[in-house]
Amino acid sequence: MRKLKNILVTGGSGFIGSNFIRLILDKSSCIPSIEKVINIDKLTYAGNLENNQLYKDDSRYFFVKDDICNKNIVTNLISNFNIDAIVNFAAESHVDNSIEKPGEFIQTNIVGTYNLLECVRNKKLSGINPIFLHVSTDEVYGTLSADDEKFNEFSRYKPNSPYSASKAASDHLIRAWNKTFGLKTLITNCSNNYGPNQNEEKLIPKTISRAILKKSIDIYGEGKNIRDWLYVEDHCNAIVQVLTKGKIGETYNIGGLNEISNIEIVNMICEKLEDIYPFRENTSSMDKEIKVPTNSYKDLIRFVADRPGHDFRYSINPEKIQNELDWIPSVEFELGIEKTVNWYIKKLT
Ligand SMILES: NC(=O)c1ccc[n+]([C@@H]2O[C@H](COP(=O)([O-])OP(=O)(O)OC[C@H]3O[C@@H](n4cnc5c(N)ncnc54)[C@H](O)[C@@H]3O)[C@@H](O)[C@H]2O)c1
Repeated sequence: MRKLKNILVTGGSGFIGSNFIRLILDKSSCIPSIEKVINIDKLTYAGNLENNQLYKDDSRYFFVKDDICNKNIVTNLISNFNIDAIVNFAAESHVDNSIEKPGEFIQTNIVGTYNLLECVRNKKLSGINPIFLHVSTDEVYGTLSADDEKFNEFSRYKPNSPYSASKAASDHLIRAWNKTFGLKTLITNCSNNYGPNQNEEKLIPKTISRAILKKSIDIYGEGKNIRDWLYVEDHCNAIVQVLTKGKIGETYNIGGLNEISNIEIVNMICEKLEDIYPFRENTSSMDKEIKVPTNSYKDLIRFVADRPGHDFRYSINPEKIQNELDWIPSVEFELGIEKTVNWYIKKLT
């Protein structure tokens, strides 16, 4: 196991990054050697300092509001904090936004990753070569039909959205900087995450928050698209395994072994809400868009025009990380959804 002391986390005020920092600061068995965690985050609409609330006063935690594209600041952070590992979460991460405004995805996801790599390459010239773990997505592999085999580390890259294309490009840069310049890189490609701290633009928190507000719950197409869902803490544990024990230059796919269609998830959330926070006792005002009488959360569901280029199915085969690094997802989906629903109810009511 690598003895890492000082870790630079990018995008640590977003959903997964903030959960990752919490895990490595809270659970000393994860990375026992840890001394400092530095979070560089630009605080876009998706970054929120409330996500770092639980450890903001921990003397090992440092926050810097800045952009991963800023070469001077990244160079100084790597040197001043004697960084021995970088975990790159910073990204524009929402597919719908990438269709509206692809430019920001090119800038942060590609140019930002390139800048981080160049800062690390310069550091290597001085004799210190920090590990660089790049957090990526299963969406780089494109889409599957219902009968296709799950994606594995050898699947071809076939991204379909500006978001997934920008992540695919950044993955290629990582690989090239490893092969050409000898950087100590690792790539993880994970499936859809859910859990606390996620921005309400994403399916699960959006469904919960709109239901609580008694607003329409919009589902693309017929809701048949399938995703493989991974509880965020399971994902963060997997990243710790890869960071501390993964083979340099390799890619690890991280999946939840939990495929489910969008409509099934929305129905499940509605049922969970009825148990915990019954519709009839929820006094939030009704959305004026809803024309039909609503007696339950499920009555809020509406099917809307599909997203252009909407991938039908993602599914990850996590055998490599299971076999080589002894990681498996541990949070059962229904329990994960219950925890997530409870977290948002507490936050929003
Ligand atoms: N959420 C998922 O289900 C999922 C699935 C697969 C892969 N991923 C990948 O995991 C990573 C983290 O995803 P997330 O869901 O936490 O994203 P997020 O959108 O919740 O958070 C992204 C964070 O990055 C910050 N950021 C954006 N641009 C920046 C810049 N130029 N400089 C510094 N900080 C910047 C934002 O302020 C935000 O705090 C991303 O790289 C994403 O592609 C996410």
